[in-house]
Amino acid sequence: MIFVVDFGSQTAHLIGRRIKELGVEVKIVSPEQILHFIQNDKSAKGIILSGGPSSVYEKGAPTIDSKIFSLGIPILGICYGLQLTAHLLGGKVISGKKEYGPSQLKIENLKLKIANGLPKTFVVWMSHGDEVVALPKGFETLGSTEHVPFAFVEDRKRKIIGLQFHPEVEHTENGSQILKNFVGICEGRHPDRVRRRVEGSRDSSTSLGMTSREIEEITKSIKEKVGKSYVIGAVSGGVDSTVAGVLTAKAIGDRFIPMYVDNGLMRKGTEEHVVGVFKGIGTKPIVVDAVGEMLKRLKGITDSEEKRKIIGNFYIEIFEKEMNKLLKKNLPVKFLLQGTIYSDVIESQGTKHASKIKSHHNVGGLPKNMKLQLLEPLRNFYKDEVREIGRNLGLPDEFVGKQPFPGPGYAVRIRGEVTKERLEHEKKADLIVLDELKKANILDNVFLSFPVMTGAYSTAVKGDGRHFGEVVALRVIESKDIMTSSWSRLPYDVLQRISSRIVNEVPGISRVVYDVTTKPPATMEWE
Ligand code: XMP
Repeated sequence: MIFVVDFGSQTAHLIGRRIKELGVEVKIVSPEQILHFIQNDKSAKGIILSGGPSSVYEKGAPTIDSKIFSLGIPILGICYGLQLTAHLLGGKVISGKKEYGPSQLKIENLKLKIANGLPKTFVVWMSHGDEVVALPKGFETLGSTEHVPFAFVEDRKRKIIGLQFHPEVEHTENGSQILKNFVGICEGRHPDRVRRRVEGSRDSSTSLGMTSREIEEITKSIKEKVGKSYVIGAVSGGVDSTVAGVLTAKAIGDRFIPMYVDNGLMRKGTEEHVVGVFKGIGTKPIVVDAVGEMLKRLKGITDSEEKRKIIGNFYIEIFEKEMNKLLKKNLPVKFLLQGTIYSDVIESQGTKHASKIKSHHNVGGLPKNMKLQLLEPLRNFYKDEVREIGRNLGLPDEFVGKQPFPGPGYAVRIRGEVTKERLEHEKKADLIVLDELKKANILDNVFLSFPVMTGAYSTAVKGDGRHFGEVVALRVIESKDIMTSSWSRLPYDVLQRISSRIVNEVPGISRVVYDVTTKPPATMEWE
């Protein structure tokens, strides 16, 4: 068992996933609990201290009992975990050069067990404001980056390792090797003998090991939770809600009633798509038309969090109205199925010390007093795992690989007020982007593509006349599990075609810019 201490990290759960992939049991615990667990659990073999949004000097910053450093159990501190270790053991931490995204790590000592199998230099992903500037006694430096001298450190005697970067994220090269080396140290054997339960899960698109047995377990837990009740399914046509829907239909048959709300903010053809997918499993979703009302409720709203809450609340209002209709027909509806996945949960402040990044409409954007109980069978899974479950359920590849589309739809891709006119512009530009990526045979290789109505305006000259129009930002990105992403290196001629078509074909647009920001720091969507 390896314990992961969660200091409010966006990726504590992801660290747990990576360790589980190495065939080791994991328990995520709070900083206050760790000493108790370590002293009482004989299976404890190692501790990972996660990152977190705090600074070690902040009042109320989460901390741990420093006794854990003298128990002889291997400890890996990641980001805040490293800073706290240094702070508690007599090193120095300052608010340093902030770094978010890729950085080049140079390894200085390749001989140590923790550096087993690593190349001399590779790309690691950072996300920190503070940095360690003096190491505690007993520590040595194994690797550094241009801005961070103590990026990879170790106290060999006390078996404490510290990383300023994040080995758990998909974009850090050799991250899984470092974690494997740490597990080797915890288990007291050579890292090469640590078996990977899930071969290639991070570096290729091969199986994540979602076995039929695991899928059976999910359906079993749906059955147990739902009992004899009925479930309304909020289906949007996306992968998450469809996979959740198919699992629920498998578990409770026709007591599952899928519903699609047409709020006018979804991509063209979504309704036909949803109906088609569910027809395939023998159900017909109820389609609710809410186009006019949605725009009315968004009128004058410019704040992105407010938009998300209005949309989340509106959805629930509709589902509860439909629930009442079904109750009148004597169908005991009790649950609302949502395709919530882990990234939605953690970004909406899903754990004790975490920051709220944004209120995903289906998590933080929900009303407080809901009559329907939530059923969220995919709440602990990541996008790539959900896709794997979908494949295992027999859903076609072209569907499972489909681009994610946010529940609040185009509303979060239009900065500021969502007017009918700007919504039309957004839809038109979106179709152009999809069309050009498809023509260039790129569409299937990108994770997500969309234009953003930025709300910024600039001057253009169209047909010898002055035109002061809106700036569109194009966002095309690569990711697997949503926790990190990089921007797609699109060929210049494709960018040119997209840009020309948008400024020529979409009224009111003066300029197209390409968004070249990684996540972190930028989230995928603009709002
Ligand atoms: P961000 O922008 O948070 O996006 O990096 C991560 C993924 O989540 C989608 N997204 C949402 N999905 N409700 C959803 O169902 C939301 O409120 C929401 N906000 C973002 C986004 O499109 C991306 O796939």
